[in-house]
Amino acid sequence: MTERRRNVELKAHDPDPARTLERGLAAGAQDHGVLLQRDTYFAVARGRLKLREQEPGGATLIAYERPDSASERVSGYRLAAVAESAPLLAALSAANGVSARVDKRRRLLIWDDTVRIHLDEVSGLGSFLELEAVASPGSDLSRERGQIARLRELLEIADDALREGSYADALPAGGAAAAPDAELLAMAREAAGRAYAPYSEFPVGAAVRTADGRRYAGANVENAAYPQGQCAEASAIGALVAGGGGAIAEVVVAAPSRELCTPCGGCRQRLREFTPGDAPIHLADLERVRRTTTLAELLPLSFGPEHLA
Ligand code: THU
Repeated sequence: MTERRRNVELKAHDPDPARTLERGLAAGAQDHGVLLQRDTYFAVARGRLKLREQEPGGATLIAYERPDSASERVSGYRLAAVAESAPLLAALSAANGVSARVDKRRRLLIWDDTVRIHLDEVSGLGSFLELEAVASPGSDLSRERGQIARLRELLEIADDALREGSYADALPAGGAAAAPDAELLAMAREAAGRAYAPYSEFPVGAAVRTADGRRYAGANVENAAYPQGQCAEASAIGALVAGGGGAIAEVVVAAPSRELCTPCGGCRQRLREFTPGDAPIHLADLERVRRTTTLAELLPLSFGPEHLA
């Protein structure tokens, strides 16, 4: 299967999968049973690339791109059946790095011949519902859009249940359970509370943990001469070095911000000096961890100390 295919699709949080299953069957969908899927996402230069290992059914390499928007969206993708998944997984992991691993239990229903309904239990994330209308070649997508709109009504999917992005965006490379070290999270939040940010009024705290269990925190420190300001990550790295240095095993960045606070480009490079590509980097506010990522995802194709060796 070499051609690029298209879907019109929609993802939503599903507070009551049993009820959705009932509604789907009542709408005439056919039950294709339960699939156990493990998706490994690689840190690639363009779009997304994942290896899906599925029971029953075998393995498939899936390349796709799509805009992340919460309402119905169009996805372009390519599928390649994989005969032997283990060597391919090893090769792609070594060459690209793994950005996320997603385990899920999927109940597959098919409605109106071409629309897939996925009732997904995703490890560490909860229950979700996906609708995918597989487009026929050359379609202007109006039929597929109509199918999704109709099915959304039949399944009673509310606006506030719609979700953007891929499951991978919410999960770290190691899989589901990697909640941050509680003390590290507290240190980053405390540091944000002590930040010196009178000009931006955007306080940030960062904390790093070494594999041997030392933890260091830092805050952003601004300056009346604005370009002299320093980010929280840089401050935390300074404390790490002063405290004896070593590799970073885990990072928390915390900011009381409505938007997700991601490390700036300069700090991604600063972290790169001390942090392996697959170590979890938790991005938090004062209430919750909003996203866990890795340097492989934040800084692909990066330059580091080994390039000078
Ligand atoms: N800032 C950080 O300290 N870390 C980040 O990850 C993003 C931005 C700081 C720099 C500046 O003091 C303020 O936030 C506004 O940009």
